[in-house]
Amino acid sequence: MNDADSQKWGFSTRVIHSAQDTENWQGATLPPLYQNASHRHPTAESLSDAFSGKGGHIYGRLANPTNGALEAKLAELEQGKGAVVMASGMAAVSNTCMALLRAGDEFVSGRSLFMSTWLLFTQIFKKYNITAHLVDPTDLTAVSSAVTEKTRFIYLETIGNPAMDVPDIAGLAKLAHNHGLPLVVDNTLGTPYLVNPISLGADVVIHSTTKYISGHGNATGGVVVDGGHFDWSSGRFDDFSPFVDRKGELALLDRIWREHHINHGTTQSPMNSYLTMVGLDTLALRMERHLENARKVAEFLNQHPKVSWVNFPGLDGHAGKTVAERQFEGKGYGAMFTFGLKDERACKEAINRLQMIYHLANIGDCKSLIIHPASTQYVSFDPQTKEHLGIHTDMLRLSVGIEDADDIMADLDQAIS
Ligand SMILES: Cc1ncc(COP(=O)(O)O)c(C=O)c1O
Repeated sequence: MNDADSQKWGFSTRVIHSAQDTENWQGATLPPLYQNASHRHPTAESLSDAFSGKGGHIYGRLANPTNGALEAKLAELEQGKGAVVMASGMAAVSNTCMALLRAGDEFVSGRSLFMSTWLLFTQIFKKYNITAHLVDPTDLTAVSSAVTEKTRFIYLETIGNPAMDVPDIAGLAKLAHNHGLPLVVDNTLGTPYLVNPISLGADVVIHSTTKYISGHGNATGGVVVDGGHFDWSSGRFDDFSPFVDRKGELALLDRIWREHHINHGTTQSPMNSYLTMVGLDTLALRMERHLENARKVAEFLNQHPKVSWVNFPGLDGHAGKTVAERQFEGKGYGAMFTFGLKDERACKEAINRLQMIYHLANIGDCKSLIIHPASTQYVSFDPQTKEHLGIHTDMLRLSVGIEDADDIMADLDQAIS
């Protein structure tokens, strides 16, 4: 099998059979788990060559063959030219942004962001005099107006967590490129099953592989996939020239890896890469069920007398429905959403009555998961910031799993009725 063959396959086949280097794995169907910290070299020249970038493994913090197998697979699935796996989704977010930014720079981002990303952008980057302009990513005029001569990139989440907005990736890629800027997309909630942002023009894709990619809540991890098509030669990015000289189209990935990943020590554990590879085989099947269940459960809650509102892009009247239908080609609307009960007390009572759905801080597991964000992840945020971020006290966040939809609905019904 070669790359041309794998491009002909459908997603369900590619997710299982692409980038399978079984010849080098002694015929094994999964990559061997290289749990070693370092690699022995037979000669002085060979290790020197490895350090000069001429091939060969060196030390676990820099790269690992099991991680490399997952990188090849994820680059293929996201239609990118290269990938680096990292210890968590936040490692992928922070390393990517830091490779693109210098002290004093600016960037424009969708305002609905995963909590730690929001804290990184609005609090931590302030220490380096970096300004994040957070705008409504569905308003292209607002995004364009926020761009200044100091802007280095545009950032968004495929489906904003937790506001559930659905930005038009192709439109934003065009806008970014008109300004000479790369577009970075956190596709955690989308997954490569639902959408390939790179094929829509995005330049970089990030995932928390902790979620749907691994799928079983057993391996924290992240990945950066480089589309390899951004032109770094403009004056705005002249600081990229050493990386372009070294790695050409993969200049950004090289910078992320060389300057940040290996020096920040954000290395993925090979065991987690192995577990992620095992989980990944069933991504298409799981996503089909996740998406179908989410639609059923959202519609059920939307009709429920005790539920005051449901924020799910698949419901009629949702502002993101049209873009979602076009962009996700009718496959679904994501499998995580929020809904409201009477008040905080009603939310907590419902959580305490649940019998099957797990109450915990995660999403994208094959099990259904629920949380009351205002009193947990956002408990230390002041009320104004919470309200600004759409973290209402009457709000529950549900990550719909792949159990029987009727059982998910029955558990919710007995808990909220
Ligand atoms: C959209 C999104 N991006 C990034 C992250 C961070 O991922 P991790 O927890 O693997 O660091 C999360 C975590 O929930 C997320 O939902």
